[in-house]
Amino acid sequence: MDYFNYQQDGQLWAEDIQLTELAERFGTPLYVYSRATLERHWHAFDQAVANHPHLICYAVKANSNLGVLNVLARLGSGFDIVSGGELERVVAAGGDPAKVVFSGVGKTAAEMRRALELGIKCFNVESEPELERLNQVAGEMGKVAPVSLRINPDVDAQTHPYISTGLRDNKFGIAFDRAPDVYRFAHGLPNLKITGMDCHIGSQLTAIDPFIDATDRLLALIDTLKAEGIEIDHLDVGGGLGVTYSDERPPEPSDYAKALLARLTDHGELELIFEPGRAIAANAGVMLTRVEYLKHTEHKNFAIVDAAMNDMIRPTLYQAWQEIVAVDPREGEAKTYDFVGPICETGDFIGKDRELCLAPGDLLAVRSAGAYGFVMSSNYNTRVRAAEIMVDGSQAHVVREREELAQLWQSEHLLPE
Ligand code: LLP
Repeated sequence: MDYFNYQQDGQLWAEDIQLTELAERFGTPLYVYSRATLERHWHAFDQAVANHPHLICYAVKANSNLGVLNVLARLGSGFDIVSGGELERVVAAGGDPAKVVFSGVGKTAAEMRRALELGIKCFNVESEPELERLNQVAGEMGKVAPVSLRINPDVDAQTHPYISTGLRDNKFGIAFDRAPDVYRFAHGLPNLKITGMDCHIGSQLTAIDPFIDATDRLLALIDTLKAEGIEIDHLDVGGGLGVTYSDERPPEPSDYAKALLARLTDHGELELIFEPGRAIAANAGVMLTRVEYLKHTEHKNFAIVDAAMNDMIRPTLYQAWQEIVAVDPREGEAKTYDFVGPICETGDFIGKDRELCLAPGDLLAVRSAGAYGFVMSSNYNTRVRAAEIMVDGSQAHVVREREELAQLWQSEHLLPE
């Protein structure tokens, strides 16, 4: 559930502010987030596992705006990061490094050093060479690095191939069959301390079964290791819980947690870590865009809007379906439109074959835009990136200013005379 609703005036609001007003004040394209929605989604996870030791580590990649991270940090959230850059963002936003887990297949020595200096909770390691490098860096610093191994449980997450990560032929994680050997290897390295086990099988999952299958496999592995004297303190089940873009009915965090906890009855002490990104941020944001032109051809009606694939690339990249609604719907005959941007690519579309009644200048909201929206935007076609606004009740805070054109080439140089 989110706080973007049509009110009695017939218009779409964000909490206690008309979106029309925000578009007039800050221009379009514009990302608008709802603080109450972010908090509600975070609490849904936190409360779902309230009776079990746990940590919610929000996946920063989904939306790394400092304002968003700050809202979550104030709730006491942990963070799942995949780069030194994300680590610095967490720190800048007031997050606690001791609640940070560091995922990703390509951590550099410098990133490891900085994370050790700040004292993060755990490195989610994905390969033996990475274990060796981490052991060396920690040794040079006179530290012991807390380590979890990302296990690839080889389960089919039944999601889009680009965002499915738990199958054998993905680049991620350590093959299930090799896991005991790699744990033994890590156990023998003097500057590492094994603390956990993790997995992440994919994103936008709409069924519980793949999560449970993966958990069962990991729990069996944890028992095998225990028999050898290798103790695992926490199980990190990754992110991946899906959201409703159109008619998907993903499980609620409470149902997901209930099913997981039922499997953990013999592992009461095992701390559970979740790395939700989309489930917290997606429906806590919309992207506002205005209709520039309506173009009717023999075969199609196009609504040419002022947002493009550089602002929101999910439809182009994954054929993802994002709901497009009128902020102030007008009466009249609806037509079927393709919503396209000004970029010179055929793939530049936000949505296809949508029925709406439109006129030039109309304001539209692209829903579920809070995750993998702004963060994946670019300056392609020398377009400035949008501003981002955080709504909090009747207040609107600019959490990122719209870029200025000159900023786009300020670090570029002409050749010498
Ligand atoms: N943990 C790890 C290790 C991950 O790789 C990811 C996402 C997450 C957590 C968070 O997953 P979530 O809860 O958000 O599903 N750009 C794509 C999604 C890529 C997800 C990559 N990994 C999209 O727009 O659909």
